[in-house]
Amino acid sequence: GIDITRLRQDTGLITYDPGFGNTGSCSSSVTFVNGEEGALHYRGYPIEEIAEHCSFIETAYLLIFGYLPTRDQLQHFSTLLTEQELLHEGLRHHFDGFPSQGHPMAILSAVINSLGCYHPDLLELESKDQFLLAVSKIISKVRTIAAWAYRKSIGRPFMYPNPSLSYCRNFLHMMFSIPNKIYDAPQEAVRALSLFFILHADHEQNCSCSTVRMVGSTQANLFASVSAGICALWGKLHGGANAAVIDMLTTIREQDIPVKEYIERVKNKEFRLMGFGHRIYKNFDPRSQILRKAAYDLLEKTGNHDPLLDTAMELGEAALSDDYFLERKLYPNVDFYSGIILRTLGIPVNMFPVMFAIGRMPGWVAHWYEDFQNPAMRIHRPRQIYTGARRRPVVPMNKRK
Ligand code: ACO
Repeated sequence: GIDITRLRQDTGLITYDPGFGNTGSCSSSVTFVNGEEGALHYRGYPIEEIAEHCSFIETAYLLIFGYLPTRDQLQHFSTLLTEQELLHEGLRHHFDGFPSQGHPMAILSAVINSLGCYHPDLLELESKDQFLLAVSKIISKVRTIAAWAYRKSIGRPFMYPNPSLSYCRNFLHMMFSIPNKIYDAPQEAVRALSLFFILHADHEQNCSCSTVRMVGSTQANLFASVSAGICALWGKLHGGANAAVIDMLTTIREQDIPVKEYIERVKNKEFRLMGFGHRIYKNFDPRSQILRKAAYDLLEKTGNHDPLLDTAMELGEAALSDDYFLERKLYPNVDFYSGIILRTLGIPVNMFPVMFAIGRMPGWVAHWYEDFQNPAMRIHRPRQIYTGARRRPVVPMNKRK
């Protein structure tokens, strides 16, 4: 019953919604989140079932194309990813231009954007096949670029991808193999990594996804749009939170700060409890529950013990029995346990947001494509409440002091 044409012409009224907490910026059929019930569905399938039954590549296919692939479709997609895993030699040279201390997130976003320079035919997508090719390049190459950004930072030679390896195993190989010693990741590590990627694959209109849609709404190409998503993910309130959790747990341990005292300082607003709270989940974050179990399983199966997990558990229990956190509905989010998993896999902290970006890539692509296919899509252009000076005359320089 709403006359949309009329609403568009009515520009007199502006909704003031800082942080867009109550603004629906689009309609979308990709991911459903119910914060009160702690539910997360990709294309209608509950995250718990996807985590149990699907690989990351199946999940990526589901998110991007909207349905679970058949065996043949999955095989075809996996073959395309394998064909696209190498980087153009020209792109390889881009890595020489970055200083070795350059942050891998900066390298990742720059090189992903540069893919467009090497595939100018994919800047304007005119067919489904072209889209599939662009998707395969991005989903496949992102892990090569990420692993090479890491190798660059530690001054080790790049490892080329091995086409006989699965997506996650291949990534771990490019990260940790050395020329005379191929890293054969244990199955538990491969499974934990796959789970990490699956649980990060999409989360509807979060900051980075909205950024991708915002940039895409100008009809910018897919490479540029997802590269902007990587930048938006970088901050410690979003993709940087898992690294901030590890920093926090390390500080507590190294400085021997009693957990109770730390919680009091959080309540006094000296700092936030990283890995806690979520704009949408006000009961529990289903991803954090899956990752909590995965962190324990991984440590147990690999025979490792991480004292930071003990601190995390102590901190979690203290927060969850404190009124400050209960009243504000602050529960552990996906980042509270994911850092423990990444550490156990041997991933250094500055690579944590990069790992998030690899996992989130299918979601960004799916949202970009949803807008791309929507004939009614308009450029995103929020309004503001102006609080600056009223109209005033310019005093020429020769009359100013
Ligand atoms: N620790 C302590 N207090 C908190 C925390 C926290 N982690 N998060 C929110 N609060 C408090 C705020 O101080 C505020 O208290 P007040 O009402 O007394 O002023 C209240 O809870 C509401 O906080 P907002 O900032 O309004 O909540 P918002 O929805 O804007 O923020 C966010 C959500 C950014 C996730 C926040 O909870 C936070 O900063 N968490 C820590 C960082 C983090 O873990 N980020 C990862 C998010 S998940 C993701 O990106 C995958």
